[in-house]
Amino acid sequence: MFSLKSALAEKIGPMRERVASLRKEHGDKVIGEVTVAQALGGMRSVKCMVSDISALDPLEGIRFRGLTIPECRERLPKVPNGTEPLPEALLWLLMTGDVPSQEQADEVTAELRKRSELPDHVRKAVDSLPVDTHPMTMLTVGIGAMQTESEFAKRYQQGMRKEEYWEPAFEDTMTIMAQLPVLASHIYRHKYFDGKHIGPDESLDWAGNFAHMMGVENANFKKLMRLYMVIHSDHEAGNVSAHTTHLVGSALTDPFLSLAAGINGLAGPLHGLANQEVLRWIQNLREQMGVEVPTEEQLEKALWDTLNAGQVIPGFGHAVLRKTDPRYMAQREFALEYLPEDPLFKLVSMLFNVAPRVLSEHGKTKNPWPNVDSHSGCLLVHFGVDQYDFYTVLFGVSRAMGVLCNLVWSRALGFPLERPKSVTTDWLLEQVK
Ligand SMILES: CC(C)(COP(=O)(O)OP(=O)(O)OC[C@H]1O[C@@H](n2cnc3c(N)ncnc32)[C@H](O)[C@@H]1OP(=O)(O)O)[C@@H](O)C(=O)NCCC(=O)NCCS
Repeated sequence: MFSLKSALAEKIGPMRERVASLRKEHGDKVIGEVTVAQALGGMRSVKCMVSDISALDPLEGIRFRGLTIPECRERLPKVPNGTEPLPEALLWLLMTGDVPSQEQADEVTAELRKRSELPDHVRKAVDSLPVDTHPMTMLTVGIGAMQTESEFAKRYQQGMRKEEYWEPAFEDTMTIMAQLPVLASHIYRHKYFDGKHIGPDESLDWAGNFAHMMGVENANFKKLMRLYMVIHSDHEAGNVSAHTTHLVGSALTDPFLSLAAGINGLAGPLHGLANQEVLRWIQNLREQMGVEVPTEEQLEKALWDTLNAGQVIPGFGHAVLRKTDPRYMAQREFALEYLPEDPLFKLVSMLFNVAPRVLSEHGKTKNPWPNVDSHSGCLLVHFGVDQYDFYTVLFGVSRAMGVLCNLVWSRALGFPLERPKSVTTDWLLEQVK
């Protein structure tokens, strides 16, 4: 058996026991309360989901299975002489909770390579869309079309016991992770390069090959892709893309269709699409000012203009974080090393200096600090990937890893259909009388 699958299988029994005993011995213990403001306010901070894949501390930021981003960069296996962690190694970590050996990470790379043949009808489904279709629409159409490959859907139709659900969910996860970079680069080349596609390079790792299929051969871009794919993978289970995938999957919808739903959530400007919006905002500013890098005063005025027009500053604020996102800092470190003189990086750094002060003075947002999306675009532009509307697709390929690991575990632990209670405003008024 593929080692990752057997490593996962070994973890499932003890985790099932842990969850069963939590439910049996402590099922009626209260772990939180829900205020009227939370019921009306997007359920912020209501503790009603369980996931061990990653945890988000408001001040410290994300930990993947207990490891911070700097720890992942240090401890996860890399390509020979590499500096950034292999996303394949992160997949192992997220799935099992253990840091894999180099050999185990390499085995994941080989397994993904083996499964990477994208069905022809998926390519045709994408190609049939008008070329000006948003790439996120192309991505969800593509993932939906890939569903013909679902082991989970097939096995469910044949009749499968509940304890077995995790296994085809795992198989589907591996197939999806193998084919997503092929689908995403197909979209990229279809939309921006007249459909001139580039075949895989079998000698490369998963993220390096993704960069190759997009047509970007710069070795530092391949490093960036490894880092990018690691840091965007998961951000606790309650964010829109993770929660949506989980919710849809709880109806025993297969992993392909559950992921497609989550990816639709990622396409919202308050979530993953913010990376595109940051670049659009900067581009508008440059055009208005007629300069590549504005002064701090010009930048401050532009920020106030956006706020006074009732719009959000993309790339700033967060529903959970209350300080600068460590995913932002990892990208900033990368930029300081590889592109310190890049004019767009200078502008993004200037925003880091100016925007938190402006947002604090504005006084609305609980977190005036930059998030992951504030930085990613400037790195991509540096390497020639300047098609802003494609950025969320890259985010989606990475995010699939976290949400699908969650889905496999939800099936392994037998999490039931999700069905929170909605109440009426009459009921609320009655309660507060
Ligand atoms: C991420 C985000 C949706 C979190 O929303 P949230 O949890 O409701 O955030 P807050 O509790 O701080 O929001 C309080 C108020 O500040 C506003 N606010 C938050 N971030 C803001 C920003 N970047 N620019 C302007 N206003 C902002 C909210 O719109 C809200 O206004 P309202 O009271 O009129 O509705 C929000 O910060 C945002 O819209 N950021 C910009 C988009 C972005 O970068 N998204 C990617 C997130 S990784």
